[in-house]
Order: sequence, then structure tokens, then C-alpha cells
Amino acid sequence: MSIKEKSAAPTKLIHCIVGARPNFVKIAPIMKALEFHPEVKVNLIHTGQHYDHKMSEAFFEDLEIPKPDRHLNVGSGSHAVQTARIMESYEQVILSDKPDLVLVVGDVNSTMACSIVAAKELVPVIHVEAGLRSGDRTMPEEINRIVTDALASYLFTSCQDGEDHLLREGVAPEKIHFVGNVMIDTLVDSLPLAAPKQMADKLDLEGKRYAVATIHRPSNVDDAAGFERILSILEAIGEIIPIVFPIHPRTQGRAEALDLADRLRACPGLILSPPLAYLEFVDLLRTARLVLTDSGGIQEETSVLGIHCLTLRDNTERPITIKMGSNHLVGTDPGQVIEKAKELLAGDRPKQHCQIPLWDGFASERVANLIVKICRGEI
Ligand code: UD1
Repeated sequence: MSIKEKSAAPTKLIHCIVGARPNFVKIAPIMKALEFHPEVKVNLIHTGQHYDHKMSEAFFEDLEIPKPDRHLNVGSGSHAVQTARIMESYEQVILSDKPDLVLVVGDVNSTMACSIVAAKELVPVIHVEAGLRSGDRTMPEEINRIVTDALASYLFTSCQDGEDHLLREGVAPEKIHFVGNVMIDTLVDSLPLAAPKQMADKLDLEGKRYAVATIHRPSNVDDAAGFERILSILEAIGEIIPIVFPIHPRTQGRAEALDLADRLRACPGLILSPPLAYLEFVDLLRTARLVLTDSGGIQEETSVLGIHCLTLRDNTERPITIKMGSNHLVGTDPGQVIEKAKELLAGDRPKQHCQIPLWDGFASERVANLIVKICRGEI
């Protein structure tokens, strides 16, 4: 088709939904890839699930994401309150804008809330990162994944097991498209921009071995027993290697509420920092010796960077990072985690670089090409 014919095609409006920190990292390359397709008009809708500068605007700046066309300003609340507020506000937006498609990413409350609204207004939903399952319905994200995938018309997967889960749940094979991992597109693009941030130097860690920790899951920080297990882990590993811990507002809040903030601050070798912007974090990650996390995205990023990652959870929706990456699912029993950390620190870095299929930096191009086909009615 010639460019002239292409531009003569009617423009379709797509709403891209973001709300929380990991969404920004996923939407950035998709928005960039869609810029090459004038027949697709993109509106960015920010629910406001995350609102602190370091949790939101800092990511927009680092990743050069355009300002949202709409900001719903929903803020924090219980799951029901936050989800309901997003649904109520987004319904007004969808009714007035009448988009042809709604694209959601990941598994946060904003993902599910906007999918429900779109499905009820009969607007087809595209879910990027479909099919991931931890099998653990105590995780709010698992509920969000199941509901979103049940409602989506187009399910874009990042790995083979995503497709396997969807087929097992009865999703028609023609709705599933294996695109790869858009978060890795952002990582690959950002590495040259991250290095000049010189985070190790700024933290007086240049040339030294150090670890990075990120912990914010409700199962690890919401109750005292879980939080104390995490503290025991940090205290023991901090004796062996300095640990940089950019602390999520939820974790900070829980530490204070549980009267554990002093113990956290007193952890030997622990360097506490406010949440970091994306490029600062990637710079810190890329030269870390070990990572301790309960995040989903960081299991993926460390696998591509070839850094040992200890996932402090009992399950993961990203088993591919264990099979083909550098992730180790270690639970939260301090004895076991500390033993594994010592073993990894005494050994070598992960030997081979990750070769997970389609985690190649081009997933968002595949997403954009599929969206164009959807807009033309070809799929
Ligand atoms: C959300 C996602 C989680 C994702 C995480 C990344 C859901 C169910 N969870 O969890 O999957 O890994 O984002 O960060 O959607 N807060 C602030 N400032 C902010 C945002 C949050 O202070 O900008 C505090 C508030 O006290 C809030 C708490 O953090 O109540 C939790 O925020 P929320 O968006 O509900 O969930 P996250 O734990 O951030």
C-alpha cells in the first residue's frame, strides 16, 4: 500500500491507559512505535493511581512520554475504592471520546478497571502482557490479570507460557499474538542514557560490589511478621555487601505504621533512598552484583542484564526468568534466602546472557504493526 493510500485510511482513535509506575515503562515504546502510523491517533489516559513526582512525572520525563491527554487524578484508596473511582472517571472519558480501541498494559488496578469499562461500552480491549499467571489469587495483580484477559479482545503475550495459560482458560487461539516484552524495549533503549547518571559514584559505591533491593508487595510489608522476615534478610546480607534500597512509599508507610522504621534505618550496610527515577534505577541495576526483589518487572530486567536476582516470593508469574534468565525464586524464609545469597555472592555472575524469545528490543514495533492490522480490520 502506498503512503497516500495509507493516509487516506480513516483514522482510528486508541486510548492507551496508564496508572502506576510499571505501566509507564511499558507504554513508552508503544507510544513511540505508534508515531510511525498516522492512521492511528493515540490518546494517553493517566488514571492517577500513582501521583508522587518520583512515582509518575519522573518516569514521563526520563522516558519522554508525552503529557497525558486526560488525567483522572484518582489517587490512592482500598482496592475497591481505587478501582471504582477509576471506573467512574474513565466511563465519562470513554463516553465522550468514543475510542475505537483501548490498550491496557500489565496487571495493576488501572489495567483491570479500564478494561471493565471498555468491555461494557463494547470497545475492544488490547492487553499487552497477557496470560501471565502466578496461580496465587491472594495477589491483587493475579485477580487483575484474570479479569483483564477474560475481557480483552486481543491478547498480546510476552512469553510462551502466557499463551499456554490463555489456551488452557479457553481463549480462542486467533485472539492471542506473541509479541515479546515491551519493558525490555525500554531497557535496551535506556541503557546508554542510564550510564551517565553515575549512581554508583554518587552513592560512593564506584568500583565496589553492591546489591539492590526493592520490596513493596503487600505479602512482604503489610503485616509485622512479613516485614520482620524482610528485615532479618536485609540485616544479614547487609553485613556481607552494601544494599541500596530505594523505598516504595507503601513500604515506607508500613515501616512507620508497624513501628519498624528505626530497625530498618539501623540495618548494617543498608543505603536507603527515596524511589528512584527510571534511568537512575537502571544505572544502579546494571552494575549491581545481586538484586533482592518482589517486583515482577525487575525479575525480567535482571534476566536481560545478566544479574542474579533473588525473588522474595513463594511464586512468580514469570517462570521464564528462572528457566532462561538469572532469577532465583527463594521465598521469604530468612535462613534460605541468606544461604542462597551467600552462595551466589561466592560464585560467578550468571554465565550466559538471556535468550528469552522475542525479548529483543522490538516488541513494541510488533505491537504497533498488529494495532494497524486491527484498525484496518485485517485481524
Ligand atoms: C501498584 C501495583 C503493583 C505494582 C506497583 C508498582 C496494583 C494492585 N498494584 O502497587 O502491581 O507493582 O504499583 O509500584 O495496582 N503511594 C504513594 N504515592 C504514589 C503511589 C502510591 O504514596 O504515587 C502509596 C500510598 O500510600 C498508597 C500505596 O503507596 O496507598 C500503595 O499504592 P497503590 O497504587 O495502591 O499500589 P502499589 O503498592 O504502588
